[in-house]
Amino acid sequence: MARVAVIGAGTMGHAIALVYALGGHQVRLTDSNMMTLDKAQGLMEAVLATLVEGGEAPPDWTSAHLAQMVTRHFSLEETVEGAELIIEAIIETPNAKAALYRQLEACAPAEAIIASNTSQLDIFPLIPEGLQSRALITHWYTPPYLVDLVDVIAGPQCEAEHVATVTTQLREMGKQPIGLKKFVPGYVANRIQAAIGLEVQALLDEGVASAAEIDAAIIHGLALRIPILGFYAKADFTGLPLMQAIKRNNSYTPPTPKAQSPILDKLITDGRTGVLAGAGYYDWPGDAAALFEARDRKLMALKQALREIGTMAGLERTL
Ligand SMILES: NC(=O)c1ccc[n+]([C@@H]2O[C@H](COP(=O)([O-])OP(=O)(O)OC[C@H]3O[C@@H](n4cnc5c(N)ncnc54)[C@H](O)[C@@H]3O)[C@@H](O)[C@H]2O)c1
Repeated sequence: MARVAVIGAGTMGHAIALVYALGGHQVRLTDSNMMTLDKAQGLMEAVLATLVEGGEAPPDWTSAHLAQMVTRHFSLEETVEGAELIIEAIIETPNAKAALYRQLEACAPAEAIIASNTSQLDIFPLIPEGLQSRALITHWYTPPYLVDLVDVIAGPQCEAEHVATVTTQLREMGKQPIGLKKFVPGYVANRIQAAIGLEVQALLDEGVASAAEIDAAIIHGLALRIPILGFYAKADFTGLPLMQAIKRNNSYTPPTPKAQSPILDKLITDGRTGVLAGAGYYDWPGDAAALFEARDRKLMALKQALREIGTMAGLERTL
């Protein structure tokens, strides 16, 4: 069991705190906004109830037990006191992050490993020299209690033993850490998602197919194979000469990145901003919380099925 401090209790922070608690760690959670820290307890309880019901958390995990495993603190100093691992999950603003790291240099325990959840920032130049030997990125995906991927990027001066400690902890919690050899904005999965994003926006904006047809192509075509094979194992099953021929034919031109999508802009102007607004590309009538819960139930069922089926790609077999 490690003592873990999570700084930032927003969308990611409260959920990461829950994952560490379920992994058997003692967690302290803080946020500079008292209302957010207050709300975090109810949010963690609601997720915990769904996880228990879906068999993804032990049945004896009650709200009272959760309150013992994740304690909330208004003071940063109190939050990080005695921490062995400090997770930074505050807003994605360089100035705010740099200011927090300066505070941490003064108050974090000398041995504490410091892990940032930044999405896009090269965080390391923002971190003071005194913390560099123990600074790394652990980048989670939402919802982190169901999505297992965590990108791990060592800071330029981070000691290898700290990377190993964090990676082992993640594996022990059932997560799938992947180690990147260097920082690139968007890591791996978000870069691939960005490339898909370019295509789906162009296909819709250019009138090739509707949003529902594009989703059908993803769900019934791409998605069925991806959970079992990923990309490179699928290529092995396809046969590499076809990959080579497709490359040589050079018949595919990726869409030019554009700063705007007319359809996306119109949806937002019309107030169709997504599930929380009751509509986006699709209509989402009804209670948004129930829709998020329904999404989580389906993800849980899928995870459980995939666990049983197993994958054919694996880190142990690659180049
Ligand atoms: N939302 C996602 O899907 C997602 C996924 C992966 C990574 N991230 C990254 O995780 C981090 C947090 O993102 P989020 O979506 O949870 O944001 P959020 O806005 O929901 O939460 C951030 C929280 O940080 C708090 N905060 C700001 N300054 C603080 C400080 N000095 N000390 C303590 N708390 C402070 C804010 O009050 C807020 O509650 C960002 O770096 C983001 O890029 C987000």
